[in-house]
Amino acid sequence: MTTRQPVVAIDGPAGSGKSTVAQLLARRAGLQFISSGAMYRAVALTALREGTAAMSPERLAAIAAALPIRFTTDAAGTVRTWLGDEDVTDALRRTDVTEVAAVIAKIPAVRAHLVARQRAYGAEGGIVMEGRDIQTVVFPDAEIKVFLDASAEERATRRWKELRAAGSPESYATVLADVRARDRSDRERAVAPLHAAPDAITLNTDGLSIDAVVAKLQEIVEAWRTPR
Ligand code: CDP
Repeated sequence: MTTRQPVVAIDGPAGSGKSTVAQLLARRAGLQFISSGAMYRAVALTALREGTAAMSPERLAAIAAALPIRFTTDAAGTVRTWLGDEDVTDALRRTDVTEVAAVIAKIPAVRAHLVARQRAYGAEGGIVMEGRDIQTVVFPDAEIKVFLDASAEERATRRWKELRAAGSPESYATVLADVRARDRSDRERAVAPLHAAPDAITLNTDGLSIDAVVAKLQEIVEAWRTPR
């Protein structure tokens, strides 16, 4: 008999660092990592490729239901996302995909199909999944629930530094306004709005390095694993 491993459900706003943190935690704690955002992005990418006809709620729901998505880990330990035989990891980060993903994520039928798959991934435990509604809707009974937060200013500073390093000219004020707009869209939407579950551990990452946050989460997993 093998002991059940936990479902670690992590949610947080855009720029809270949750995807990096969740991926490192999974690797270090020996758990599988799934980005639920990658699934919404994969529906968006497929729809963009099909053209405007694909943008009806019915077609989007059908795309979500039949999405040929899978995840692998490369030699460097990075999770790669596939649609059929195509590695779409980089394509999923495109700006047009980000924009369409935010729109299609508001369609209940799309969410219902993706939530069902997300639950199936976690049915046996042993998983770290991150997103917007993982600790509230997908796994309300997860063994470990974490809400990763950071102030809008801190998240905008992180994003602005990344953009500047990549040679983009956006001002800090523009980036901060974008972060606030994304927050409103995530927190105030009618379907699966972003919020901390009442029993989640909220971690504010302002001023904390990625490593410091991962170390804290590892402690939480180890404490859960330690027999009481
Ligand atoms: O990296 P970023 O925070 O920009 O996005 P993401 O986590 O990859 O999510 C892509 C899109 O899917 C965003 O618009 C999220 O609001 C949405 N999403 C969602 O509605 N529910 C989830 N569980 C995960 C993502």
